[in-house]
Amino acid sequence: MTQFEDKIAIITGAGQGLGAETARTLAQHGARVLLCDINTETCETIATEIGSAAASFTLDVTDEHQWATAVKYCVEVFGPPSVLINNAGISSFSPLESTSLEMYSKTMAVNSTGVFLGMRAVFEPMQRNGGGSIINISSGNGFIATEEVAAYVTSKFAVRGLTRSAAFEWGRYGIRVNSICPGMINTAMVDPEEANYIRKITPLGRTGQPHEIANMVLFLASEASSYVTGADFVIDGGLLSGVSVREEE
Ligand SMILES: NC(=O)c1ccc[n+]([C@@H]2O[C@H](COP(=O)([O-])OP(=O)(O)OC[C@H]3O[C@@H](n4cnc5c(N)ncnc54)[C@H](O)[C@@H]3O)[C@@H](O)[C@H]2O)c1
Repeated sequence: MTQFEDKIAIITGAGQGLGAETARTLAQHGARVLLCDINTETCETIATEIGSAAASFTLDVTDEHQWATAVKYCVEVFGPPSVLINNAGISSFSPLESTSLEMYSKTMAVNSTGVFLGMRAVFEPMQRNGGGSIINISSGNGFIATEEVAAYVTSKFAVRGLTRSAAFEWGRYGIRVNSICPGMINTAMVDPEEANYIRKITPLGRTGQPHEIANMVLFLASEASSYVTGADFVIDGGLLSGVSVREEE
């Protein structure tokens, strides 16, 4: 596919899971990818595995200054970014009444403020370069609550708000901004017991695989999605499509 050969993508949380799979997939299709993660070691390992189309950068997405350096590094090594995938995220489990301010603030900082900082950091080079595509990873929890993840749910609702705001304000610059809302996808973030339950209540009868998210990133990063902006793409095997009203057999 030639349409990715001029693409330069920054991917956060690329040291493992969905971010790593996304980086591999984009590179396989011809893009150059800057993998960013707070975990230097895993990020470097994946970048080395991908080869010369990849570079790695240690980035804490909550740090404004590190974002500026990461984007500068991208411009120096590959050129101005045409794609940004705000994927880094953390989960946090706690009943709402005992969620500490520290846990709430940390979850919001990584999952939501990190997205804000990332979008703002790429705006100038992306705009100067005639536009681009920003893909923010929200969650099924960006639509509905589940037990004991109030901070996570709030942070993922915020990602959808940021996505719409950026899409609305930056369409005139040719910058498209969309979100992907995964259901339960097999990565280290997922609790095996919870995955078992989700499998039972998901219409497709299984959890998702990282490449099923990476394929949507591919679409949103490409010109195939040229009229798509300000939208949320739910990839959850039908989990959010309804509520079962029968007892489990
Ligand atoms: N796996 C799922 O079922 C699922 C479902 C819905 C949404 N998501 C979202 O998808 C994204 C990726 O999830 P995953 O399952 O691959 O998770 P993961 O835990 O496997 O990977 C997350 C990566 O983010 C990095 N990271 C954490 N804090 C960071 C920070 N401050 N700065 C930079 N990097 C940081 C970690 O080091 C790690 O490499 C997250 O935003 C998550 O909320 C995942």
